[in-house]
Amino acid sequence: MEMVAVYVDRGYRTGLGTAFYDRLVELERLDKLVFSHRTVIVYGPRGVGKSELVRYWLRGLQERGRIAAVYVDARRLRGQHLVRALETRGLLVDKKNLAERLLEVLKDLDDRSTGLLQLTYHAIDVLIDVIREYASTRIILFIDEFHLLPRYMHKSDPASKYLDALDDLEALAGLLAKDPHYSNITIVLTVSEGFTATDLVLSKLHGYSTAWMLVEHLDVDHFRALYKEYVSLKSCGVDVDEVLGLVGGTPGYLPELCMLDRNTVVEERVPMWIAEVETGLSRARNVLSAEIFRRELEPREVIRLAYELINNDIAPLREPHLHALGQILTTYNIVYPVYPRGRDGIRYKPQYPVYRTVIELGYREGVETLLDLDPHRVYQEAVAKLHGHKP
Ligand SMILES: Nc1ncnc2c1ncn2[C@@H]1O[C@H](COP(=O)(O)OP(=O)(O)OP(=O)(O)O)[C@@H](O)[C@H]1O
Ligand SMILES: [Mg+2]
Repeated sequence: MEMVAVYVDRGYRTGLGTAFYDRLVELERLDKLVFSHRTVIVYGPRGVGKSELVRYWLRGLQERGRIAAVYVDARRLRGQHLVRALETRGLLVDKKNLAERLLEVLKDLDDRSTGLLQLTYHAIDVLIDVIREYASTRIILFIDEFHLLPRYMHKSDPASKYLDALDDLEALAGLLAKDPHYSNITIVLTVSEGFTATDLVLSKLHGYSTAWMLVEHLDVDHFRALYKEYVSLKSCGVDVDEVLGLVGGTPGYLPELCMLDRNTVVEERVPMWIAEVETGLSRARNVLSAEIFRRELEPREVIRLAYELINNDIAPLREPHLHALGQILTTYNIVYPVYPRGRDGIRYKPQYPVYRTVIELGYREGVETLLDLDPHRVYQEAVAKLHGHKP
């Protein structure tokens, strides 16, 4: 048997209750980006471990001194738990204290909803005061799931919610990049909405010292080791090859999938993944028909385009239709864009292997709608593919 070096930090507990696995490359890259940019946006497939990566990295900062970090969990903030939403590192003030000072500022605002700008502007001011007292040199403000900040939540239309969040982000990034008052602050954001990886967002933030950091799946060996520890703590109704074949190295899926057995996965969960892809593709069909092709596209044509999309690098100028498809499927969290270094193509990768299987099987079988696919076949093909790669 081949020996593989697995990086595991048993001194750290993740949200799953396990040790922290893998991510040495990502940690190094995040470190570089934070100290060379003012705004860092961490993006990637849902559940792969973006938030945990940044939390883990923040913890390591403690040992380096002279850097203060505040972590704001927008999900908890939404639940009005300011104290629980905050974590502080390297600040000689505890989070209760900090939360009180923040609340004092926030309560004077007429609008009770604490938006990103309100919160971060005031947080920054309060933090600067606090930091000055202790003469730290650098402040890192980490906002997890920034699009979930309360200000955006009462909007019913998701698109307008994102656009508002984007306007705020643009203003904030501009401020950090240009106003010397904020010159020792870096903001790190994680977002699980594909929207943030679209060209619209990229172009809006262009020139504001903003960096994107892509976090992809855990590698197979690390994921196997993590799975092993996880099942020793809890239990799991599906085996590791099934998990890997369906959702890849996505630790965020473990709690949900492990509660199911194989039959339930095939009969209930697989149809949901199929429906997710179908939703993205039918939206894309409408948009491409109206805005690019100017004729009604056949459903099969869109499945073929999706097949082409995930199997090739896309040149946006030469292939505007594929580029548009990639952007729409990114917004729907079906794919995510990877910008290869040194080449100008974009590769749109499926967020999970099962999405790839659905698109490829749909293409090969020539179905009218992906909903006609047999979940048993999707399951078998997804899991078999993994064995094909790893004999
Ligand atoms: N490197 C890792 N080692 C062990 N467990 C991890 C690791 N990364 C993430 N996890 C666990 O996997 C789960 C999902 O991680 P996390 O919430 O960070 O993902 P995410 O990418 O931020 O997801 P979302 O897209 O929903 O925001 C969490 O319970 C987390 O504790
Ligand atoms: Mg997250």
